[in-house]
Amino acid sequence: MTPEQRKQLISVLENDEPISNEWARIIFPPEKRECELVYLGKEREEDIIAGTMALPLQAVRTFNKSDEDWRNKLVFGDNLQAMRSLLDEKRAGRLTCADGTPGVRLVFIDPPFATQRDFRGNQDQKAYQDRVAGAEFLEFIRKRLILIRELLTDDGSVFVHMDWRKIHGVKLLMDEIFGENRLQNQIIWQRHDPHNDAKTKFGRIHDTLLWYSKAEKPIYNFKDVTESLSVAALKEYSLCRLENGDIVAWEESLEGKGKRFKLDDCTVKGNNFDRKFVWRGAKPSPKRVWPADSPEEMDELVRKGILYLRNPEKGAARCRVSELDRRQAEGQLAQDIWLNLGRMKGGSSYPTEKPELLLNRIILAASNSGDLVLDAFAGSGTTLAVAEKLGRRWVGIDCGKLSIYTIQKRMLNLKQEIGNKGKKAMKAKPFTLYNAGLYDFGKLRELPWDAWRFFALQLFQCKDEQHSIRGIRFDGYLKGSSVLVFNHLENGGAMVSEETLHSIHEAIGEKVSSRVFIIAPSMSFDFQRDYISIGDVRYYALRIPYSIVQELHKREFTALRQPSIADDVNDTVESVGFDFIQPPEVSYKAGSRVKEGFLLHEGFIKLESFRSEANVRAPMKSVDSFEALSMVMIDYDYDTETDVFNFDAVHYSAALAEAGWEITFPLERAGKKMMVVFLDVFGNEAREVIDEETFADNKTEKLKKAKKATKK
Ligand SMILES: C[S@@+](CC[C@H](N)C(=O)[O-])C[C@H]1O[C@@H](n2cnc3c(N)ncnc32)[C@H](O)[C@@H]1O
Repeated sequence: MTPEQRKQLISVLENDEPISNEWARIIFPPEKRECELVYLGKEREEDIIAGTMALPLQAVRTFNKSDEDWRNKLVFGDNLQAMRSLLDEKRAGRLTCADGTPGVRLVFIDPPFATQRDFRGNQDQKAYQDRVAGAEFLEFIRKRLILIRELLTDDGSVFVHMDWRKIHGVKLLMDEIFGENRLQNQIIWQRHDPHNDAKTKFGRIHDTLLWYSKAEKPIYNFKDVTESLSVAALKEYSLCRLENGDIVAWEESLEGKGKRFKLDDCTVKGNNFDRKFVWRGAKPSPKRVWPADSPEEMDELVRKGILYLRNPEKGAARCRVSELDRRQAEGQLAQDIWLNLGRMKGGSSYPTEKPELLLNRIILAASNSGDLVLDAFAGSGTTLAVAEKLGRRWVGIDCGKLSIYTIQKRMLNLKQEIGNKGKKAMKAKPFTLYNAGLYDFGKLRELPWDAWRFFALQLFQCKDEQHSIRGIRFDGYLKGSSVLVFNHLENGGAMVSEETLHSIHEAIGEKVSSRVFIIAPSMSFDFQRDYISIGDVRYYALRIPYSIVQELHKREFTALRQPSIADDVNDTVESVGFDFIQPPEVSYKAGSRVKEGFLLHEGFIKLESFRSEANVRAPMKSVDSFEALSMVMIDYDYDTETDVFNFDAVHYSAALAEAGWEITFPLERAGKKMMVVFLDVFGNEAREVIDEETFADNKTEKLKKAKKATKK
């Protein structure tokens, strides 16, 4: 700071004037980096990794089981916390590519752009709010990119998809996180579905992909990602024919008799001295060589028609004959402007689904068979489906139940061809569905002791390190203090009471610091308080389910929010901490009737009440109305044998409200049994199976009529 600036600052302070942002750079000049994006709320990298909860992954179900060791993973939860757990798995050597390399070889992310936020207020307030939302969004992405970098193999790559609004901020962040020199490409991807704004400005028809790598030279399989020749390249080829060994231009009208080709310089780049000989009176120019090892081999190339001598007598212009057919078969190397990679909207009803062709190119280019590919904003699962088709391992994470059911269905109904077309069905390799952050306590209770102990320690971020103090066994440490996981199975029905704590204290009292943690199922504690003080020691009760001792956590716990309108499916969701599944209570009527104005029968499901039992990460805050309903999903033909919810339709609660909380459907859609999933805004679900008898009479009548009609 110059003496002049010091004086100015003192005067600003003494006069109680507002301190402008410019002073930040003067008082705290950037030390480490030449250029850094500065915004409010930017955390230190170290704090992001250390301060993110690694929430345990609870296996819910494995599909397509087989003997293979590796299982692909589909994780329901906030990706920050889920990736933090995956990082622990990488460190423990459990998250690997097929060749044994720890970590993820390729990450693709297509995060929400955070542009849907609704704002009511004046323009200034809106502009301010946008800036705040902008900083929050950048920090949201930055945290995740830092974890992605940690998860990557040493030669791994990440592709980030963004639109024109946020790409520049994200580029600066990626320069900070990966290094400016690790930017391999900024790719312009021309969408096929332009927005309808070309009358007020140039039409916006591209999105951008940023490709950063961890190492200087990442995997790049250029031969696997060739493109068809551009129009400009095609124009260089003219229709000719060979006449007495000479190339003669041919007329377009005689197409078929001639061939399309062009003549190129026949020397190639290189320094191989053996290929610099004199041939027919000429030598290649510096840094170029002949395409063969001897004058005889060069003559042979002329005989085969691969080389052409424009004027053999004078020895001038030795050309390579480039035939269009051959060139077209080879294709040309891909450039950083990508066209013709399919439509934005793929096969499912999931908003913002990307084309499989786009992911096909990325995965082929930057990974090899058996490599692990991660998509932390999985959406409809395009990345995972393509990874599966290309023989890669995969992990997908999404915080939306709609996404999880879309992916589940997609992976169980794959078609071999990219684009999910063609007749050839494909069975996906085994994959396991996990919960990260919203747990099923019923399933936890069934875990054997070792698995329960491990889960309990992970849930409360404890270090797994057994030790004993004066003969009492402890399981690990939390923030430096000892943790005991109470064995409720071994002690069959025994409780953790105040007396238990007193007897522990008697043994270890002077030997421990000011805190001791006891983890147990909540029904195994026979007191309600968060902690009990004995002497100078506080004995904390960490209960499963439910233990949110706020003072242990830096951040307030927040729930995973599920959308209630289609537009919000692509919103940024940030949740902190964990919760336990509490199925909502729902009552409804189902039946069939003649559709008004038509002679058709339709089925209906009318919701009568909905009550969410969710604890919302704070005990018992039940929401007693449709406000807590996010959506209703339906599998019209539920297969009880496989017991897979193969969802066919989604009804968002906002639309249901307009329809008087009623869902109607053509009766013939209903199979023998239907499964209906009522989802609350916190991700809990009530599942109902409805028998065909519910709609029976009218359905059979309707089907009979349909059969008669086809006979005619
Ligand atoms: C643009 S979509 C991805 C679309 C996907 N590329 C496809 O082809 O279908 C973004 C997804 O990010 C998810 N998402 C948003 N915030 C998240 C978070 N914190 N953790 C996990 N998923 C998140 C949303 O649920 C949404 O499905």
